[in-house]
Amino acid sequence: MSKRVAVVTGGIGGLGTPMCRTLHDQGRSVAAAYYPAEEDKAIEWRKQQLSDGYDIAIYPVDIGDYDSCAALVEKIENDLGAIDILVNNAGITRDAPLKKMEKSNWDAVIQTNLTGAFNMAKQVFDKMAQNGWGRVINIASVNGQKGQFGQTNYSAAKAGLHGFTKALAQEGARKGVTVNTISPGYVGTEMVMAIPEKVRDQIVAGIPIGRLAKPEEIARAVGFLADDEAGYITGADFSINGGIYMH
Ligand code: CAA
Repeated sequence: MSKRVAVVTGGIGGLGTPMCRTLHDQGRSVAAAYYPAEEDKAIEWRKQQLSDGYDIAIYPVDIGDYDSCAALVEKIENDLGAIDILVNNAGITRDAPLKKMEKSNWDAVIQTNLTGAFNMAKQVFDKMAQNGWGRVINIASVNGQKGQFGQTNYSAAKAGLHGFTKALAQEGARKGVTVNTISPGYVGTEMVMAIPEKVRDQIVAGIPIGRLAKPEEIARAVGFLADDEAGYITGADFSINGGIYMH
């Protein structure tokens, strides 16, 4: 059997990098999709991965743009083959309390974090179903489960991903395509380090495990759900949040 092909959006970021490496370790042919403005960073990233023994292809995409996603998938299919594993990982924050939130920041977060998952899944889901095998893994957030002060946009988008996941899981269930979410808590990435230090310290103090997550601790679950043996897990959510929200 030829290698299964995996694509990770936000693939060159703090969470995306160990996800790509985990999938590579599982013998997948991996493509990391990056935001077009980050081309220089992506080229450096690929060099670094290669020198660490990871041959991961890189492709630009604006996941908020449907046509950009269609072009990305066409390119990957031509280069590597049909996509078997999609990890919708790319996401942004534009935090502000509602009274200060600009409409543009509401729109940007919904467009990227929620519509982006639709834009990508739409390109690959039918082929996965036709092939009788597929994995869609949507990276949601603890803040889509519990809400977070200053994140009406982000919490709404991430909660939306849960609904999207459960609906699509039903559409894929008889076709060998599983669809799941992972809900990370606060991970030590650039996104979390951008929270003002004082606020961040308060958040960390409220995490029962007492520290931020390591990105690898989230990537492990991606590997688990993407595994050939994980075919009975669908419509599920994996909370990996150090106990900050138990439900
Ligand atoms: N609960 C209740 N009240 C709060 C509060 C909270 N958590 N945080 C702030 N407030 C209050 C303040 O005390 C202040 O009250 P007063 O007006 O009475 O003084 C009021 O709300 C407004 O606060 P600020 O003026 O400080 O508002 P701001 O605009 O400067 O900043 C913020 C607000 C941007 C939301 C900032 O608090 C912040 O960055 N919070 C962290 C948000 C967060 O957790 N983001 C997660 C990013 S990482 C991520 O999203 C990854 C993931 O998946 C987990």
